[in-house]
Amino acid sequence: MNFKVKDHYFKKAKKDNYLARSVYKLEEIDKKYKVFKKGDRVVDLGYHPGSWMQYTSKAIGESGKAIGIDIRPLNKTLLTLKNVKIFEKDIFDVQVPKDLEEDDYFDVLISDMAPNTTGIKSVDQDRSLNLVEKVFEILPIFLKKDGNFVIKVFDSNAAQQYLKSKRNLFKEFHHLKPKSTRTVSKEFFVIGIGYKVEE
Ligand SMILES: C[S@@+](CC[C@H](N)C(=O)[O-])C[C@H]1O[C@@H](n2cnc3c(N)ncnc32)[C@H](O)[C@@H]1O
Repeated sequence: MNFKVKDHYFKKAKKDNYLARSVYKLEEIDKKYKVFKKGDRVVDLGYHPGSWMQYTSKAIGESGKAIGIDIRPLNKTLLTLKNVKIFEKDIFDVQVPKDLEEDDYFDVLISDMAPNTTGIKSVDQDRSLNLVEKVFEILPIFLKKDGNFVIKVFDSNAAQQYLKSKRNLFKEFHHLKPKSTRTVSKEFFVIGIGYKVEE
């Protein structure tokens, strides 16, 4: 039987009506680095079930817009939020904002995407880095100059090397392991503030 540890953040998410405990990671990141502001247009890659969308929807207010994509079937409970739009799509099938019925760049791009894990460390690290590379590849087409960025990364030497080569893309580039991340987890988050636009 699959036993799910009902930890503090899991219970807190239930109580606060959030769709997942991951919301507290984004909340901590936003409190520390001021990722969102009212009126922002945000794209959330790998949004399902949608706690980041719930948080973002509130943070950007009615004048903002949050677009989520995920390979999983649409979570229609999110459609009660007026400033939210969701798509069932693979990130590898997305090239331009038009693929999400948008014409313009986004103020903020966030990605909590995680691959299906196999338990084989090197395979899982490669799959994760593959997703991270895809996100950096679409940044110049999706993110506005001075825009902000949050991405989940599974730690590995290759990931660290790759990220080093990208840190100049932003005015500020931070690494953070939020308090609500399980201690055994190898994940951390990269936060980019002030996109400089790729030369
Ligand atoms: C940890 S969950 C996201 C949780 C979400 N941030 C929340 O707060 O509810 C990671 C998601 O990434 C999605 N994902 C993985 N690979 C993807 C891909 N190639 N394209 C789109 N979504 C992907 C998975 O389907 C999964 O739903």
